[in-house]
Amino acid sequence: MYLCINFCILLYYVGTRAEVRLPPSITHVEQPQYFHDGKDVYMFCEAHGVPKPRFMWKRNGIVITKNDFMEFDPVLGNLTISNPTSREEGDYQCVAENKWGTSLSTVTPLVYVRLDPFSEVTEPKTYSVKEGESVSVRCENIPESRPGPIFSWYYKTIGTDKSETSQIKERDSLAIDVNGTLHLLNAKLDDGQPGQVYLCGITNKALDTIFLGSETRITVEENTQVSSTKPKLLTATHEVTEVIGKPVVLQCIFGGSPVPDIKWFSSSGVELVTDGVKYSVDKFGRQLTIKNVMEADEGSYSCVASNGEARANIKLNVTSPPIWTKTIISRHAVEGDDVTFNCKARSAVGERPVSITEWYINDEALNLQKEAENGRQIELNPDQTTLTIKEVSRDRDIMCIQCRLSNSVGSVFKDGFLNVLKPIKIWSRPPNTIIYNQEEVVDFSINATTDPSRTIDRKWFLNNNVLVPYQPYFEYDSVTGTFLFHPTLLKPENLEAMMGQYTCQLSHPDQTVNVTFTLKTNDTLAPPDVTTDSTSDPEKATSNIYIIAVMCGVLILAIAVVVIIVLWKQRNPKAVYNLGAEEKKNYNLTPIDELETEELRIDTLNTLYGSKHSVYSASHDAYASNTLNRSYDAYASNTLNRSYDAYASNTLNRSQDPYAGNTLNRSQGPYASNTLTKPQDPYASNTLTRPQHPYVQ
Ligand SMILES: *[C@@H]1O[C@H](CO)[C@@H](O)[C@H](O)[C@H]1NC(C)=O
Ligand SMILES: *[C@@H]1O[C@H](CO)[C@@H](O)[C@H](O)[C@H]1NC(C)=O
Ligand SMILES: *[C@@H]1O[C@H](CO)[C@@H](O)[C@H](O)[C@H]1NC(C)=O
Ligand SMILES: *[C@@H]1O[C@H](CO)[C@@H](O)[C@H](O)[C@H]1NC(C)=O
Ligand SMILES: *[C@@H]1O[C@H](CO)[C@@H](O)[C@H](O)[C@H]1NC(C)=O
Ligand SMILES: *[C@@H]1O[C@H](CO)[C@@H](O)[C@H](O)[C@H]1NC(C)=O
Repeated sequence: MYLCINFCILLYYVGTRAEVRLPPSITHVEQPQYFHDGKDVYMFCEAHGVPKPRFMWKRNGIVITKNDFMEFDPVLGNLTISNPTSREEGDYQCVAENKWGTSLSTVTPLVYVRLDPFSEVTEPKTYSVKEGESVSVRCENIPESRPGPIFSWYYKTIGTDKSETSQIKERDSLAIDVNGTLHLLNAKLDDGQPGQVYLCGITNKALDTIFLGSETRITVEENTQVSSTKPKLLTATHEVTEVIGKPVVLQCIFGGSPVPDIKWFSSSGVELVTDGVKYSVDKFGRQLTIKNVMEADEGSYSCVASNGEARANIKLNVTSPPIWTKTIISRHAVEGDDVTFNCKARSAVGERPVSITEWYINDEALNLQKEAENGRQIELNPDQTTLTIKEVSRDRDIMCIQCRLSNSVGSVFKDGFLNVLKPIKIWSRPPNTIIYNQEEVVDFSINATTDPSRTIDRKWFLNNNVLVPYQPYFEYDSVTGTFLFHPTLLKPENLEAMMGQYTCQLSHPDQTVNVTFTLKTNDTLAPPDVTTDSTSDPEKATSNIYIIAVMCGVLILAIAVVVIIVLWKQRNPKAVYNLGAEEKKNYNLTPIDELETEELRIDTLNTLYGSKHSVYSASHDAYASNTLNRSYDAYASNTLNRSYDAYASNTLNRSQDPYAGNTLNRSQGPYASNTLTKPQDPYASNTLTRPQHPYVQ
């Protein structure tokens, strides 16, 4: 039993959570750049998504299947390559997938680190140089190195018991260039000691081993005649191509005696010196480093030896894979929106333009025809840099979207997603105008719902000022939207400030909807006890008619009573009594009953008729002025005004609503029924029953 309840709760939980939808998106990939023989390679991938995405890996574009040397966890997203060899080198990419889409990471190369020892050379090479002159000693039989080689040179003393190897430091008269060649710029007898050989060493940044090449001898001939030699260019980097953002190294090596000094100049003739920011001149002036090379750095550089006795020009070509100008940004759209994704890039200055944008949906090349068959309305602009999905639907259009752009240097790739949310829907809200009625609680409640992955944040404004709903005279619940105003808890003098335009801004990060209405006093022609609600409520409206009818009845009754009294008074000897009083003066007293003369009879009848007539017209007055005016008031001005308010502002507000989807929902929802019932209901019955009632009678 307990288990069952638990299970049911779990089912309910899962059921509720299934409402939240989120396509996968890879947030983090960790992958080594290099790997060595025998050392396990470990990489992992992280992604968001609801339901939780599952992972795969691709190598050179092909999905990896579990095998003897590769293992991955589709839930955790990690991959282990045991005992890797050059066979596992390649371009790796993580794939995260759930029922809403497929997200891809950027392809990243995994490079197998290699550096073979130098091959054995049979004959050690010997270089001869005259004292004071220069010599360049090549590093022979350089083995392949990945990543690129780093060179160094060593002395080795031979012929003694203890053979010693020590690294050669560069100095003003000794240079090692980027290709590994050793240059003696101004040879000394010391450089060619018989018991000493030179060895070229090679390593790379992924290794901590140095391999040494074969032994090379240098012999220096004594030269007493020449004390100085002119500067002579030994080597220079002629053309350098580098990618934006990387450092670039330019080298010029001049021989001569004395050792020439070197100055560097930009193409505009400005001397470049170490500035701690962008440029640095090192290795006794022989090397210029530009940190963080930029497009503007492209151009010609020159190195000048000993004030112009020798020089070299170096061309720097700054290149780049496509540079993004606009890229895919993941979107949480609301149902019915049109969503646009951009994918645009340019090439570096002076390079061939970028290829046309390639679009992918869930890792599959975009096929507009196929998408149209699936009911998706996808449009591309003429240069294909903009993709628009029209009227997105939560059931059809949640997806991952990718694009790739290429040029002669490389390609760039971007992954993103389109998530579609249920819109903010207003189920109930206050009417557009609330007439304030003393002592009555005013209901500002707004019931709204939205996507299960979002919560609505409510902000209230009164006459465009922020309204804090946490007050003693308010009853507020920010979650359900219940909001009651108790005017009785407010000081009467503060009441006026509570009138005006109320706005509730319902929002979450991806949608905002405003609900606006007005609270005002019955300052115009409004009778105190009629509120907008009563006109929109047919039952109340009928009860009002009933009250008026009853009042009319009472009035008629009163008139009838007056008529009866007057009639009765006519019959009564009141008039005769007056007459009798006159006659008393004449001492000719006759009781009324006995006055039987024709003259008196007609007289009396005339009086009676006259009074009857006056009572009649009085009652007519009462009708005309009282009843008619009242009913005119109540219906013509009051109801009409109100209905005008209700309609006009309703319609206007709706058309002002920023979200088309919302407008649609609302006109279909609780408001449509309002609008429809209002003209048919209180009006029809009013106008029909009203004129027929007191007048026809
Ligand atoms: C993935 O990571 C977990 C925990 O870190 C580990 O136990 C598991 O062996 C890993 N699996 C793979 C294939 O790397
Ligand atoms: C290094 O070698 C390349 C190609 O062999 C050459 O273009 C470049 O100028 C050399 N650099 C130096 C500094 O000698
Ligand atoms: C620079 O290098 C790129 C890529 O190798 C090439 O396409 C371009 O033509 C070069 N530019 C110049 C000015 O040499
Ligand atoms: C919603 O109302 C607030 C406060 O009056 C206003 O600042 C905002 O611009 C309105 N937003 C829309 C979409 O009308
Ligand atoms: C809001 O409206 C919905 C839909 O009509 C209803 O299910 C829900 O109970 C209402 N919530 C409140 C707090 O009135
Ligand atoms: C508004 O209603 C109150 C209470 O019924 C009443 O006292 C007041 O006279 C009314 N004001 C106007 C202007 O009709």
